Order: sequence, then structure tokens, then C-alpha cells
Amino acid sequence: MGLTINDAGMTAADSGDADPHAAQTDDARDTSARPHIRSFVLRQGRVSAAQRRFHEEGMPRWGIPYQTTPLAWAAVFGAARASAPRILEIGCGMGETTALIAANHPQNDYIGIEVHTPGVGSLLKEIETRGLTNLRVIQHDAVEIARDMIAPQSLAGIHVFFPDPWPKKRQHKRRLIQPAFVHELAQRLVPGGYIHCATDWQEYAEQMLAVLSAEPLLENTAADYAPRPDYRPQTKFETRGLRLGHGVWDMIFKRLA
Ligand SMILES: C[S@@+](CC[C@H](N)C(=O)[O-])C[C@H]1O[C@@H](n2cnc3c(N)ncnc32)[C@H](O)[C@@H]1O
Repeated sequence: MGLTINDAGMTAADSGDADPHAAQTDDARDTSARPHIRSFVLRQGRVSAAQRRFHEEGMPRWGIPYQTTPLAWAAVFGAARASAPRILEIGCGMGETTALIAANHPQNDYIGIEVHTPGVGSLLKEIETRGLTNLRVIQHDAVEIARDMIAPQSLAGIHVFFPDPWPKKRQHKRRLIQPAFVHELAQRLVPGGYIHCATDWQEYAEQMLAVLSAEPLLENTAADYAPRPDYRPQTKFETRGLRLGHGVWDMIFKRLA
């Protein structure tokens, strides 16, 4: 145990077993030059032999290194895919859902973002074993990726499925769905593009709904919460939440012209 693969650009050891729903500490230091939401903590954790192997072999093939300039999607997926709708998933976890969505929608191109090596290893395994050509992975902080790598009006969709709820009041600043980040995400959608958030934490659902509703670039596709659309399979964290008796709330907002 304790085998750790360094995350690109990150100094701390990471964790495959960290439970984002468990109590989380506030002691991780934000070492970035410009302060922004720090929505995760990298802890020492276990990477299985298979995850390590798929990570080592898969990253050079299916991984995209973090960069501080906008990503050329055509260079990643090929010129023939120039008109394919582009969808970003933030916080893929172990990636089963991400891979299933990509497999079920070959007409779209997907980039999954995750910071934890075990999850990235699992996602790379899914890409390899399913032979997916429309899914790539970036192992880096999604806040920095959205800021630096995603051009305005370039995405058809953004998925944020069961982001860490950071349940304690003093941890709320770590939540991803906050006004400034949502505005940044909305700017990266094409007009008519969507952002789909889901959570099993009622009070965070209420915050998400308020933040998304207050964003002038966005319009709710439902009166408030949306029914789960067919394209979103039940995720690993959703399954866990349901087992604990939690509810599930989906929100799908579209970018105005
Ligand atoms: C609660 S889990 C949900 C995983 C998955 N979406 C699911 O529903 O099973 C949240 C995931 O988001 C990742 N995460 C949190 N903040 C992130 C960030 N800023 N950039 C990339 N990944 C992040 C965590 O590492 C974790 O795997």
C-alpha cells in the first residue's frame, strides 16, 4: 500500500480511497499563484497494480497534459471531428459513468477531468478496454483547466456529477459550484450548450440551483430540478448516496445566445 504516482503539476501525494463525503479537513494549503477554489485534497493513498499499469500505459495515449494555453480540440480528436460536440466532465471519480456516456454517444467528443491517480487509472482502463476514441483525460485541477485550457464558446456541454459536497459550513468555500466558477463555465459554452449538475446533498442542491439560476448567461431547462436524463447513468457516488438514503437532484441549464 501507499504506492503513489505523482500528479502532473501537483506536489502532494494523492489518494484513491479518500471518501469525499466523509469529513474533510481544511488544512490543505493552496499553493497556486492566484487563489481560487480548492475543491479537493490530495492524500497519500493506494493505487492498485492495474490502475498503475493503465495509468502508466494509458496517459501517453489518452492523457492530455495540463497547459496554460487553449486546447486545440482538432489536434486531440482529429480534423475529421471538427464539428463534433465537445463535452467536459469535471470530477470523473473512477470513470465508469464517463466511459459509458462516451460509449453511448460516439457522435460527441469528451474530456474527463480528475485529480486522483486511482480514478484516472480506472478511467484509462475503461478507455482501453472499451476501445473508446472519443474520450480523453486531463489529470489536473478543473478550475485551472477551465480557466486556462478551454476557449470561450467552445463546449456543447459540461457535466458536474456529484461534486464533493463539503458539508461543513466552514468547508463551503471549497465547493465547485459557486458564482465566479459557474460564470467562467457558462462563458465556455456555445449558445444553447448546457451545464448539467447533480448532487445527493440537499443543501448543496439548493445552493447549486440558486447559483445557476442567478447566472445571467444561463437559463433553467426545468422549473427547478430536472428529471435525470437518459444519457446520465447512475454514478458510483450516486449509488452510495442512495444506499445512505439520500435524495438525488439534477439541474440542467442552457446558455443563452
Ligand atoms: C464525490 S466524487 C464524484 C465522482 C463521480 N462524478 C461520481 O459521481 O461517481 C468527486 C470527484 O471530483 C474530483 N474533484 C474534486 N475537485 C476537483 C477539481 N477541482 N478538479 C478535478 N477533479 C476534482 C474528486 O477527486 C472526486 O473524484
